[in-house]
Amino acid sequence: MRNVLITGGAGFIGANFVRYLLQAEPGVQVINLDMLTYAGSRENLMDLPNPGNHQFVQGNICDRSLVERLFEVFQIDTVVHFAAESHVDRSIIDPEPFIETNVRGTFVLLEAARKAWLSRAGLANSQSEQAVRFHHVSTDEVFGMLEPGDPPFSEISPYAPNSPYAATKAASDHLVRVYGHTYGLPYTITNCSNNYGPYQFPEKLIPLMISTALEGRPLPMYGDGQQVRDWLFVEDHCQAIWTVLHKGDPGNTYTVGGGNQLPNLEVVRTLCEILDECRPESPYLPHEQLITFVADRPGHDRRYAMDSTYIDRELGWKPEHTLASGLLKTVEWYLEHPEWVDTIRRGVDYQGWLAMNYGERGGI
Ligand code: NAD
Ligand code: TYD
Repeated sequence: MRNVLITGGAGFIGANFVRYLLQAEPGVQVINLDMLTYAGSRENLMDLPNPGNHQFVQGNICDRSLVERLFEVFQIDTVVHFAAESHVDRSIIDPEPFIETNVRGTFVLLEAARKAWLSRAGLANSQSEQAVRFHHVSTDEVFGMLEPGDPPFSEISPYAPNSPYAATKAASDHLVRVYGHTYGLPYTITNCSNNYGPYQFPEKLIPLMISTALEGRPLPMYGDGQQVRDWLFVEDHCQAIWTVLHKGDPGNTYTVGGGNQLPNLEVVRTLCEILDECRPESPYLPHEQLITFVADRPGHDRRYAMDSTYIDRELGWKPEHTLASGLLKTVEWYLEHPEWVDTIRRGVDYQGWLAMNYGERGGI
């Protein structure tokens, strides 16, 4: 791993990973390709460690000539592919950008990697399988939904996506696997559960609830709030990806979970308790009183959970954070960075999004 192309590195998980990698690998050059959609921001890349090893390129992963040029100019040997449209609610309102970025964008990257790394006979220039790697970051949502007593998803779970977002991520997983099987591209895939932590755009559950509670506005709980997610602190996720890059076997998929499976209502109540402690002077105590049940998401998956046994046994990775420790760090980070939240919200049509997604649900 010398010249690493990170796609979507100005988004939530990508920016955390850029930070992680620059710190963990001072010898690595990071080329960060991001289109800066509403979800990406240069604000997420302030004060990077070893900034001289980071080069930002604003561009679209669907731009084939740009992507090919980056492979050539920077002699890319590793891709870590985060760039995606990532919000389920947006995919329900307008699926098209999901098809374009998540499916076509992944295809363009795979083609560029094939051209740069492979000849018709397989790996070009007598490269070993370990010399190049295409790592694809995917989601538990490709496996669909679990019933209450079902065992968690694992590497052998069948694909059964339920939202436009999940379907496009499933398609991208299949494409990556096909480039390995048909062309011999050395790849790895991680399918992980819901992430949370610093730099998450405040439309996703946890940062939305923190920023909305601090303003004393209603906390919109979809349906009965009993949907279960398996919460993974973003630093643990970064460590899992780094571990797979170093120790994972090409051609393998790893499922990555946080080991924290709780209903949304319980997560938000815990968050409110942490806010009560961190902000005892708040006029909105207890913040839990702000929880408001609103109309459910269409096709809302009831439960996700991930089995991390394989990555633990084979590669020695397990999450270090409990939900309590991860949520505390997250709340502290948002309280310490009010200017980040303001800048991010001002940079996009955030109020427009709230009106569109929550207006018909009764507003927030
Ligand atoms: P995000 O929405 O915060 O960031 C996505 C980034 O990709 C943004 O910076 C955006 O500008 C960039 N981008 C979007 N379209 C692009 C394009 N066409 N070309 C270049 N850049 C583009 O997403 P995230 O939460 O950081 O998720 C990162 C990856 O992890 C995604 O692939 C997502 O499917 C996966 N994932 C996320 C979660 C989660 O809980 N957030 C869980 C499982 C998997
Ligand atoms: P989200 O953060 O959008 O992630 P995902 O849909 O990928 O799991 O949502 C997490 C859970 O929180 C999901 O069950 C939907 C629920 N939710 C709410 O109840 N209210 C909200 O305002 C949002 C954004 C999500």
